[in-house]
Amino acid sequence: MTLIVAIDGLGVEEARGLTRSLCTRVAGFKVGLPFLLANGVQSLSELRGACPEKLWIADLKLADIGHVMKLVASSVASSVDAVIAHGFVGVRGALDELKEYLDSLGKKLIIVVSMSHPGAEEVYDKALPSILSVAAKLRPWGVVAPATRPAIIRETRKTLGQGVKILSPGIGAQGARPGEALCAGADYEIVGRLITGAGDPVASAEEVLSKQEEMLRRCKE
Ligand code: XMP
Repeated sequence: MTLIVAIDGLGVEEARGLTRSLCTRVAGFKVGLPFLLANGVQSLSELRGACPEKLWIADLKLADIGHVMKLVASSVASSVDAVIAHGFVGVRGALDELKEYLDSLGKKLIIVVSMSHPGAEEVYDKALPSILSVAAKLRPWGVVAPATRPAIIRETRKTLGQGVKILSPGIGAQGARPGEALCAGADYEIVGRLITGAGDPVASAEEVLSKQEEMLRRCKE
């Protein structure tokens, strides 16, 4: 399964209904700060109850010293399988401590190597070699790389190899087409508004899945 649905601007009941109906069709769900701040951290376990076996990711985009990132991660760790942190904070005294903490809990670390918005070219992409070397040292479970710039995904795969999962946001609202990131080497595509903002989110998710398949068929020919 290749689709991860991003839950940001929904209430708990709406999100529960959505996760329940998509549960068998997706690889997992990524819950962002807008949802957590509006509904409270405790809402995460309630939400997970609707589809407990899939991959649940807390997208806190952590970027702090290790001590503080661990404190923040500890507030969500029992309800999720993975936590996202920024790669630019570096290894020593930051991501090394977070990784060790998550490892001790059996949880996954995902680090951002670049972002999907246009401004990422101004700073993030220029630092790509350094951030990829952070990822190579840390060996996190996964990294986030933008569906909007497939060349970054290809570079990430080439540098980090097959041992890391690549998760790619930027599909739909930000312009990339379903399947483009998979064709460039990503393992999962993260889709938010295209699904959560649709009149019929389940139908929209089905459409994304069939477009992914079609695009993959074409790029493998
Ligand atoms: P949309 O609605 O644009 O939502 O499909 C995308 C989701 O993914 C997150 N996002 C990112 N997360 N690096 C990340 O770690 C990125 O480059 C990036 N771009 C989008 C966004 O927070 C939303 O949940």
